[in-house]
Amino acid sequence: MKKVGFIFDLDGVIVDTAKYHYLAWRKLANELGFEFSKEQNELFKGVSRKRCLEILLDIGKIKATQEQFDTWMIDKNVDYLAYIEKMDAKEILPDVPRVLEYLKKKNIPIALGSASKNARPILEKVNLVSYFDSIVDGNSVTKAKPDPEVFLIAANNLGVNASSCIVFEDAVAGIQAANSAKMTSIGIGDSNILDEASYNFKDFTEISDSFLESLLSKNRKK
Ligand code: G6P
Ligand code: MG
Repeated sequence: MKKVGFIFDLDGVIVDTAKYHYLAWRKLANELGFEFSKEQNELFKGVSRKRCLEILLDIGKIKATQEQFDTWMIDKNVDYLAYIEKMDAKEILPDVPRVLEYLKKKNIPIALGSASKNARPILEKVNLVSYFDSIVDGNSVTKAKPDPEVFLIAANNLGVNASSCIVFEDAVAGIQAANSAKMTSIGIGDSNILDEASYNFKDFTEISDSFLESLLSKNRKK
């Protein structure tokens, strides 16, 4: 019987921080003299902070010096952290604690696999750190999703073969990263957008204990 591990993305899977990222990026865009819409913010899901700023500046047709670029990255993060500061357990998305608790009771190893450099403080704010056997975040990786690096490090830290890992993701780049690591990918959100995932659910309320059990027994045989 193979050991099975679960890997959770953070933003959009455990908590809805996309709205705070949006407000902070929009403030910067407005200060630079252009608009930034919610639709454009969709492009930022699962994408590193540096890449987000590059895309934002493309949208505003702004050329930045290295110094300006570095300053704006810091400004955006300072604004974002002010929102994070106010977060608490009420912001955990529905039924995430039930799924974490179910896996914990069965002694299944759990990792976080996030592009965010703020992942640990967010988990602390919402009081979920104790569920995670490993936290792999934007500070631990050199290659961004869709590169599988973040999930491969997580699998290695859990001592689980990549092919026996199951990944929850809300971003296309994250699903692609899980697939290229040969992991089982579960898309959380719009199934039309996340159509490359092995399974799709709107949110965790649709993920039953019996589905988790069937995943466990399937992946134990891999
Ligand atoms: C997640 C979010 C992205 C964000 C990235 C980096 O992947 O979905 O929108 O840009 O993390 O987050 P950070 O907290 O390091 O700026
Ligand atoms: Mg995400």
